[in-house]
Amino acid sequence: MSIKRVGIVGSGIMGSGIAETAAVHGFEVVLRSRAQSTADGMVAGMEKSLARQVEKGKLPEAEREAALARVSAVSDLGALAECDLVIESVVEDLGVKKHLFSELDRICADHVVLATNTSTLPVVDLAMETGRPDKVCGVHFFNPAPVMSLVEVVRPITASDDTIALARSFAEACDKTPVVVKDQAGFIVNALLFPYLNNAVRLLEQGVASTADIDAAMKGGCGFPMGPFALLDLVGLDTSLAILDALYAEFRDPNYAAVPLLRRMVSAELYGRKSGRGFFDYRK
Ligand SMILES: NC(=O)c1ccc[n+]([C@@H]2O[C@H](COP(=O)([O-])OP(=O)(O)OC[C@H]3O[C@@H](n4cnc5c(N)ncnc54)[C@H](O)[C@@H]3O)[C@@H](O)[C@H]2O)c1
Repeated sequence: MSIKRVGIVGSGIMGSGIAETAAVHGFEVVLRSRAQSTADGMVAGMEKSLARQVEKGKLPEAEREAALARVSAVSDLGALAECDLVIESVVEDLGVKKHLFSELDRICADHVVLATNTSTLPVVDLAMETGRPDKVCGVHFFNPAPVMSLVEVVRPITASDDTIALARSFAEACDKTPVVVKDQAGFIVNALLFPYLNNAVRLLEQGVASTADIDAAMKGGCGFPMGPFALLDLVGLDTSLAILDALYAEFRDPNYAAVPLLRRMVSAELYGRKSGRGFFDYRK
C-alpha cells in the first residue's frame, strides 16, 4: 500500500512536529485536535517554523508554500477516514490512547495502519483495542521531530511484516533513519536515556550541584549537545514522569523510580518549556 495522506492526532509538541515533517516530505496531512482553535493554532505554528527555515536558507519558499497547502486542520475525528496511515500523538496515558484506538478502528478503513508515537506504553495493548491488531505499530519520533533523524519502529507481537515495512518506508520517506525495536517499555532510546535523566534530578535533590552546573558538566565533560535539565524541560516534565512511571511499572528497576522532586514539580505544573517554567525559566 502506498501512503498519500497521513492523519495526525494530537496537537502538542510532537503532533505538530510530526505533521510538519510529513507535510515537508510531500504527504497530505490531516491534523486533528479536539478543539478547532488548537488545530488552527498548530498550522499557524507550522507556518512560523517553516518561515524560520526559509530565512535560514534551509527550505525554498516554494516548498514552504507547497507544504502548507498540503495540510488541513480539523477537530472531527471522522475527517481521518480518508487517511492511509494515522499516527496518534496525544498525552502519554494508556486509557486515553486505548479509547482513541478503538475510535480510530471504527472510523478508518480496514486496510489502514494505525500507529502510536508513545514513548513507553505497551503498543500491543493499543493493538488489542482494535479489530486489526496486525495493522498497529509504534512510530516513535524524537523531539524536535523535524530535526531529529531517528524513528523507532515498534513491533508488537501482533504486527504483520507488511505493517512494519510500511512504517519503515514512511520513516524513510520523511528522511529519517528507522530502527525496528521490540514492544518493550522505553524501546531503545528512552530505556537508556531515562535512568540518566532521573539520576540527574537525584544529584540535584542531593544538593551535589546546581542545574546549570550539572548541565555544563555533561555538555563539557561528555560532549552532549544539551544537559539533562535542558533536555527534561524540552521533553516536558509531565511526559518525562509518565515515561519513568511506565518504565518502572514494566521492570521494577529502582533506576526507573521517579525521583520525588520530579513528581513534585509536575504537581506544581512546572512542565518545562511548554508551561514557561521547569528546571529553567523561559518566561523572559
Ligand atoms: N515530548 C517528547 O519529547 C516526546 C518525544 C517522543 C514521543 N513523545 C510522545 O508523544 C506523545 C505526545 O507527547 P507531547 O510531548 O506532544 O505532549 P504534549 O503535552 O505537548 O501534547 C499532548 C497532546 O495530547 C492532547 N490530549 C491531552 N489529553 C487528551 C485526551 N484526553 N484526549 C485526546 N487528546 C488529549 C493535548 O491536547 C495535546 O495536544 C506522548 O505519547 C509522548 O510520550 C513525546
